[in-house]
Amino acid sequence: MCRIYKCAPLPFIGQKRHFVREFAGVLKQLEGNIDTVVDLFGGSGLLSHTAKRVLPWCRVVYNDFDNYVRRLAVVEDTNAVLRTIKELLNGVEPKKRLTDRQRADVLATVAEAQERLGWVDITTIARSVLFSGKWANSLEELGRHTMYNRAKAADYDCDGYLDGLEIARADYRELFGQEYGNSRALFVLDPPYLSTECGMYENYWKLTDYLNVLRLLKGTKYVYFTSDKSQIVELCQWLADEYREAAPMHGATVRMRTNTVNYQSRYNDMMIIKT
Ligand SMILES: C[S@@+](CC[C@H](N)C(=O)[O-])C[C@H]1O[C@@H](n2cnc3c(N)ncnc32)[C@H](O)[C@@H]1O
Repeated sequence: MCRIYKCAPLPFIGQKRHFVREFAGVLKQLEGNIDTVVDLFGGSGLLSHTAKRVLPWCRVVYNDFDNYVRRLAVVEDTNAVLRTIKELLNGVEPKKRLTDRQRADVLATVAEAQERLGWVDITTIARSVLFSGKWANSLEELGRHTMYNRAKAADYDCDGYLDGLEIARADYRELFGQEYGNSRALFVLDPPYLSTECGMYENYWKLTDYLNVLRLLKGTKYVYFTSDKSQIVELCQWLADEYREAAPMHGATVRMRTNTVNYQSRYNDMMIIKT
């Protein structure tokens, strides 16, 4: 029996866990009409994993641009480092701020592991000592943060997560070029958000990059993810009014999910479907 993950097994900012169920529903409706799913902006691979579970006979290509696979491969090392950190923090209340001494001990543990192993998954390790919403991808970044005891009891477990996936690592345009000829392919497009808020990787994407992605939509079956935090939706609405059938998302349907950040602010995540 194949294990089904509802969220990525290792922390990943921007993973589409809140859309998994709806995305699965869209895939089910495509049964028999597609033979390939190409996850051009694979991130944590969660959408690829979902696609393979829902349509097991389909070829599913996961574009692992961020080398998430490397993080999955060293999960036992990550768990070992985290066990040492948990021992260090034994007796510290959950969510409590670490003292300078405890913080220095955590950093020394991670530095020692990095020295010994050559590379450690600091993104995952950092989740156990950083406040919610804070991320670190290197020892240097980790060293800049205030730390808290946020260690979770259980080990990370990634068993079978990548089973059946074809893994690629390429710029999305290159991969699209390889798969474009197949009229039975579904393209999944979840590019970094165009937003004024600085995320981890999001702020290096500029308007031109988004327009380049829109180019791919013409004549393809796709599921495109965005949010009204990004001005792409407004732009597409303008293009739809101006160019009607020639607009990039003409005829597509939109599913929306509202996310509440706090009592004053909320935004909508969107899944735009054309099949
Ligand atoms: C919003 S995330 C995708 C999240 C993914 N759907 C998930 O559920 O985990 C966007 C991803 O696109 C990647 N990316 C950025 N530039 C890219 C490029 N030129 N080609 C392919 N992927 C790229 C980012 O590194 C990031 O992992």
